[in-house]
Amino acid sequence: MEYKHIRVERDGAIAILTIDRQKVLNALNHEVVAELDQSVEELGADSEVRGVVITGAGEKAFVAGADIAEMRDLDRKGAIRLATTGQAVLSKIERLPKPVIAAINGYALGGGCELALACDVRVAAESAKLGQPEVTLGIIPGYGGTQRLSRLVGKGKAKELIFSGSMIDAQEALRIGLVEHVVPREEVLAKAIELAKTMAGQGPLAVAAAKRAIDHGLDISLEEGLRYEADQFGDTFETKDKLEGTSAFLEKRKPSFTGT
Ligand code: CAA
Repeated sequence: MEYKHIRVERDGAIAILTIDRQKVLNALNHEVVAELDQSVEELGADSEVRGVVITGAGEKAFVAGADIAEMRDLDRKGAIRLATTGQAVLSKIERLPKPVIAAINGYALGGGCELALACDVRVAAESAKLGQPEVTLGIIPGYGGTQRLSRLVGKGKAKELIFSGSMIDAQEALRIGLVEHVVPREEVLAKAIELAKTMAGQGPLAVAAAKRAIDHGLDISLEEGLRYEADQFGDTFETKDKLEGTSAFLEKRKPSFTGT
């Protein structure tokens, strides 16, 4: 499908989704959010896509947040609708049964940082700046920032970042665990694709099961989480990929996974 603000390209089994609204640093207005929703739906349904990289167009920004111009005249009801719509799209990204890597090529602020938080792994350019500046606008994060940031970096750092509205650089983001890799600007997309390809080369059903176990496990007790893990572990034993993976190891050859 053709989009106005989103480009989807393929590199083998990896889909690269680029948000392209450069005049406003790729800010997410309702159109972008709707297109993101549609494109993520399509990528989820495409069994040939085994990994997704999300990035921003241009030199300056990954995504500079939700569109502030669109928010200024919103009332409470409209704001709740905006938040729940955006949250639903980001949750859809988080629940994709394939790895999703954020290639953070520049500013990842507000909704942009929240988009990165919904991805599985984050690669940042050395020049990237991250933060949740919503309080500087008199509002709070609405695309999951108060929930996912604290889960990723802990309550204290999340509160510091969200209450101050301050931006941090990529090295600081790496230090606090907000991103997993920092690379030179020109290497950020290649590094994200490389990671996605490594993951895409494994048994896709196993990677999806591991993703479910980790994400769902963080929302429940340890005891329930362990039960959930055992259940997902069991499911992988009903796949052809499990027979292929274990046989390939024993036969000293490379496995060829089919996702079945
Ligand atoms: N919404 C709408 N427009 C935006 C925008 C946003 N989030 N971020 C940048 N822009 C626009 C600017 O208004 C500007 O437009 P004009 O050329 O028409 O003036 C253009 O993009 C370029 O931006 P700047 O001139 O400001 O560029 P800069 O290099 O001086 O500063 C920046 C870059 C520090 C990222 C700055 O643009 C900025 O602070 N942006 C806003 C960041 C922000 O507050 N994001 C949070 C939004 S709220 C949110 O996301 C809520 C939520 O959780 C859902």
